[in-house]
Amino acid sequence: MSDPDYLTAKRTVDDRALNDRVFDAFVAALSDEAALSDEAADGSVSVLDVGAGTGTMVVRLAERGILPSHVTYRLVDRDPVHVDAARTHVPERLAAAGYRLEEDDEVIVATRGGNRLEVRFETADAFAIDASADVCIATAVLDLLNPSPALAGLASHLEPGGVLYAPLVFDGGTGFAPVHDDDPAIERAYHRHMAEVRDGGGPRVGRRLLEAVPDLDGEVVAVGGSTQVIRPRNGSYPVREDVVLSRLLETVAAAVREVPDAAVTPETVDEWLAVRRDQLDRSTLSFVAHNLDVLVRW
Ligand SMILES: C[S@@+](CC[C@H](N)C(=O)[O-])C[C@H]1O[C@@H](n2cnc3c(N)ncnc32)[C@H](O)[C@@H]1O
Repeated sequence: MSDPDYLTAKRTVDDRALNDRVFDAFVAALSDEAALSDEAADGSVSVLDVGAGTGTMVVRLAERGILPSHVTYRLVDRDPVHVDAARTHVPERLAAAGYRLEEDDEVIVATRGGNRLEVRFETADAFAIDASADVCIATAVLDLLNPSPALAGLASHLEPGGVLYAPLVFDGGTGFAPVHDDDPAIERAYHRHMAEVRDGGGPRVGRRLLEAVPDLDGEVVAVGGSTQVIRPRNGSYPVREDVVLSRLLETVAAAVREVPDAAVTPETVDEWLAVRRDQLDRSTLSFVAHNLDVLVRW
C-alpha cells in the first residue's frame, strides 16, 4: 500500500530507534569500502538501497555527514508513488543540508565541499534488477520478505566482500500503552496476519536472519535491537508522529480483521480501535515495536 506521507513522517521515529553500535559498524564498513575504492578505477563507493521508500536513508546518511567523499547511490523501490515522492523529498533535504544540486529526470548530482553524491531513482522489483554494489541497504524491508531467498538475492547484488546494512527488521513485538485487555489477542492476530495472510515475511524475520546468513556463507558483523517508540510529550506528539501512529492503528486493525478464525471478533476490533483513536486524539497513546538491526558481510 502506498503511503509516502507515512514513510517520511516516521523518519524521526526511526532516527531514535536505530541501534548506534550497528550504525557505527556500518559507518566503519563504509569507510573500509571508501579506502578500497580509492585504489579502484572510478574511486566511488556504490550503494544500492532496496525498498528505499521516499529516500529517508540517503538523506539521513548525508545529514549525518558519514558518506564517503564519492558515492553513487541507487535508490530502488517497486512502488512508483514512493519513488516519485523520493524524487521530490531527497533533493529538497539535500539542498537544506547545504548540498549544491544539479539534476535531471534520471540523476541528482549533489556536491558539498569536496564531497560528491550521485543519486539515481528507479521503480523496480529489487530482485529483478542487475546490480553490483559495494554496499546494500534494506531498511524496514526484510520483514516483508522470506529471509533466505531475500538475502540470497541481495548477496548476488554485492561485490565480493560487500556489506548489507538491514536496520529495523521487525522481530516479534508490537504494543500500545496504556495497556488494554484486548491487546494480547490483537497482537497475536496481527502477528498471525504477517505469518499466514500476508504474502512473504513474518513476525520473527529479525531473528531468522541470524540463522539464514551463515547458511548463505555470510558473516553477521553486528546485530542489535532497534525499538521504535512513539509517545506524546507535553500533550502532543513530536514532529508529525501522530500521522505514523494513526496509520499504524489502521494497519493493525485492518490486518486483524483479515485473519481467519482469529480469536478476535469484528466488534472487539471496532471497540479496541475506537478506544485507541480516542487516546490518539487526546495525545495519551504510546506505541512500541521491537526490531533488529543487522550488518552482514559476504
Ligand atoms: C516499510 S517500507 C520502508 C521504506 C524505507 N526503506 C524506509 O525505511 O522508510 C518498505 C518498502 O519496501 C518496498 N518493497 C517491498 N518489496 C520490494 C521489492 N521486492 N522490490 C523493491 N521494493 C520493495 C515497498 O514498496 C516499500 O516502499
